[in-house]
Amino acid sequence: MSGEPMRPTFHFTPARNWMNDPNGLVWYDGEYHLFFQYNPLGSAWGNMSWGHAVSRDLTTWEELPVALEHTPTEAVFSGSVVVDRANTSGLGSDGTPAMVAVYTSHDLITGHQGQSVAWSTDKGRTWTRHPKNPVLEIGSTDFRDPKVSWYAEGGYWVMAVALSTERVVRLYRSDDLVAWTHLSDFGPAGSVEGIWECPDLFPLAVDGDPTHTRWMLVVSVQVGGPAGGSGTQYFVGDFDGTTFTADPVPGADPGGASWVDFGADYYAAVSFNDEPHGRRLVLAWMSNWDYGREVPTRPYRGAMSAARSYELRTRRDQLVLAQAPVVEGLAAQAQRNTSTEVVDGVHALPDSWRGSSAVLTVELDPGTASRCGLHVRVGDGERTVVGYDTAERTLYVDRTLSGDTGFHPDFRAVHSAPLDLDEGDRLALEIHIDTTSVEVYADGGRVVITDLVFPSPTSDRIAVFAEGGAAHLHSLTRTPVTRG
Ligand code: FRU
Repeated sequence: MSGEPMRPTFHFTPARNWMNDPNGLVWYDGEYHLFFQYNPLGSAWGNMSWGHAVSRDLTTWEELPVALEHTPTEAVFSGSVVVDRANTSGLGSDGTPAMVAVYTSHDLITGHQGQSVAWSTDKGRTWTRHPKNPVLEIGSTDFRDPKVSWYAEGGYWVMAVALSTERVVRLYRSDDLVAWTHLSDFGPAGSVEGIWECPDLFPLAVDGDPTHTRWMLVVSVQVGGPAGGSGTQYFVGDFDGTTFTADPVPGADPGGASWVDFGADYYAAVSFNDEPHGRRLVLAWMSNWDYGREVPTRPYRGAMSAARSYELRTRRDQLVLAQAPVVEGLAAQAQRNTSTEVVDGVHALPDSWRGSSAVLTVELDPGTASRCGLHVRVGDGERTVVGYDTAERTLYVDRTLSGDTGFHPDFRAVHSAPLDLDEGDRLALEIHIDTTSVEVYADGGRVVITDLVFPSPTSDRIAVFAEGGAAHLHSLTRTPVTRG
């Protein structure tokens, strides 16, 4: 894809046309599968179908033909894929388990949304729709995004699916992926301003101890997110095979939400089934329903976030989500390091630090500065600021001068997240810069900001800055990422 300087280097984009949510994330036989909401016919939302891509390392993706095509009466909305190893569905054959997709059929005549099944016995390359579709239909027009996974303790399949306008996640169980029984409902809870979409329910080890797990329910909300517009919230709690019960969040307002990401561009986050290393890996659509239809990229519209490993960490007696981006597939080349005093002002790094795709790691002591941090994607009149505000105790990304911001009035904004560092702690950041995005992981991924930016391809410099005093940059490392 040379000749496309805006094309992300290490984030998935389809070769052309519209993409939104990741769907059907699953590992099978050496391949990570990414299906996605896709319009095969254009760069606006519509004709919803499942696009398909595979990867071995989660950073280099090969796009394959459309897996599930829309029909004149059916739009294929979001859903999930399981590998039916025990052939509970009877859809596999001897020695070849079926990959079974459970997705929302949006009936274009009635407007009803029901859950449907399709299966593949050739590693997801071709799919057959089940004759009983939709296999789960309750007469609703807002009943979507089934996430199915194997509940090992009970020996059955569990589906989490949104009753979107009710702000409810409904849980079902099945023995064969076709007949589903209602278990319980969760919600409304947390952030309820926007409708609920794309739920995901999974166990997570606490502090890396596999004998101590809690359950996590992730729910996307179309509006009311922390940076405006759509966002992704989570609940930590317990699942007993029937009911999910959320732990109280100390200090939260009634209705206070816990956010996965404080940027504007992290939506519809769902996790992989059957990850072979036991990690809980998650992808999200790196966009926002406020302006996703307007983002200025051609000939495609829509990108995925980096794959991230979700972990639960104990901090001050509370469980917090931490996210680590998967970097294995990124070619680690010569790194550059520096350590320096940052006096009041903006200090550009030399030419050898230029590049529009890179991973930066930063350790910064705010010292006497009221604000400090980095400018990235710096060029003629353009910069994206990644900073820490010591008085507010916030991490922020300022994209007001990041490049093309004029395609939607809500795009030009500063997004911030509470980041209470312990006394004497340095600010530790990992910043993933790509041609059209900045992902900032602070303090080991406990606070994350993901933002799209559309700078000129030549805005590829880095600067460090301090305001109102001097900061100390203990280390700054840059690993360039090049197109594979
Ligand atoms: C979330 C969503 C889902 C739906 C899909 C349609 O972004 O609205 O609820 O299944 O997109 O493309």
